[in-house]
Amino acid sequence: MKLLVTGGAGFIGANFVHYTVKHKPEHQVTVIDKLTYAGNPENLTPVMDKINFVTGDICDEELLDKLVADCDIVVHFAAESHNDNSLRNPWPFVETNIIGTYRILEAVRKHGKRLHHISTDEVFGDLELDDPNRFTEDTAYNPSSPYSSTKAGSDHLVRAWIRSFGIKATISNCSNNYGPYQHIEKMIPRQITNILSDIKPKLYGTGEQVRDWIHVDDHNSAVHLILEKGKIGDTYIVGADNDHTNNKMVFEMILEVMGKPKDWLDHVNDRPGHDMRYAMDSSKLRRELGWQPQYTDNNGMMDGLRQTVAWYDQHREWWQADKSAVEAAYAKQGQ
Ligand code: NAD
Ligand code: DAU
Repeated sequence: MKLLVTGGAGFIGANFVHYTVKHKPEHQVTVIDKLTYAGNPENLTPVMDKINFVTGDICDEELLDKLVADCDIVVHFAAESHNDNSLRNPWPFVETNIIGTYRILEAVRKHGKRLHHISTDEVFGDLELDDPNRFTEDTAYNPSSPYSSTKAGSDHLVRAWIRSFGIKATISNCSNNYGPYQHIEKMIPRQITNILSDIKPKLYGTGEQVRDWIHVDDHNSAVHLILEKGKIGDTYIVGADNDHTNNKMVFEMILEVMGKPKDWLDHVNDRPGHDMRYAMDSSKLRRELGWQPQYTDNNGMMDGLRQTVAWYDQHREWWQADKSAVEAAYAKQGQ
């Protein structure tokens, strides 16, 4: 199969390309990536001789038409992905997440190609802390932030193109990923690189918010399974049942893994509109496609965190040049 991977120089996309080259070498991979602040071609250096890399924008109709015509499946990761940035400037989110996805849909419709659209649990909004429910494929959409509303918009476009035009598409909605190559603006790598820089971790608001963490390789094994066995037109929830509050679990876990006292952190301004709790029910993916995550329960999460801390420690040249600008942008908001 010829895979066209959008956003393949970003965090999850790059890990997907590594995973594909290692575990599915029968596929040919072409990456299209605009190389925004979040895209780094060095993320693909170890596999660059095994793939085709195109620097380009998914909003570029002509370029997309050519690349989609020449592939079998589009795996669509490209997006503006960070909630805090979407609160500072929503426009790139509207442009890439909605218009970019529209361009992809039109290209796959024209050329009759398969699409897998990567999305997020945030399209469902949030749950109360004491709500016994988890998000399922049938949960109603109720996004909160400019980021999540543009992702919800992109999901709706995909669903409409499936129903109205019969395109061959699947969607996955995944929970919070962690692992190597994640931009240091995001929570886990921000705190790891803070500690490595002798800066205290920064906890938003009360820290009572809950996130459902998944190792990026578990997300990507799910994506490959959906590419192979997913039912055309269907949506799949991806989550590994690792729900933790930001302060009680994740900060304690990161501080423990990195040998710091539990209270070595700063409380900073909360995120406006901060979603309280995400929790995923991935039983459809497990039951129908036989998916099993590798990094499960507390032990699995601690193993994944240790591996991630080691990666950031051993790849300081990858993040150190960006660190002061990222922290300066947060400091302006008291975060
Ligand atoms: P990221 O920000 O690390 O990477 C995004 C990549 O897309 C970058 O390489 C960037 O250069 C590229 N890109 C942005 N705009 C583009 C454009 N117009 N044309 C071409 N390339 C463009 O994001 P990520 O965390 O790897 O997320 C990837 C996908 O997974 C996104 O769709 C996101 O919504 C989804 N997702 C992320 C998570 C998570 O926890 N990070 C969880 C669930 C779903
Ligand atoms: O749930 C899936 C989503 O997970 C993806 O769709 C997004 O692309 C991805 O960025 C992520 O969104 P979050 O906003 O949940 O992740 P973030 O890493 O920004 O923050 C995780 C939690 O930690 C959140 O409750 C905010 C909090 N936080 C974040 C930062 C950066 C802090 O307490 N301190 C911080 O410094």
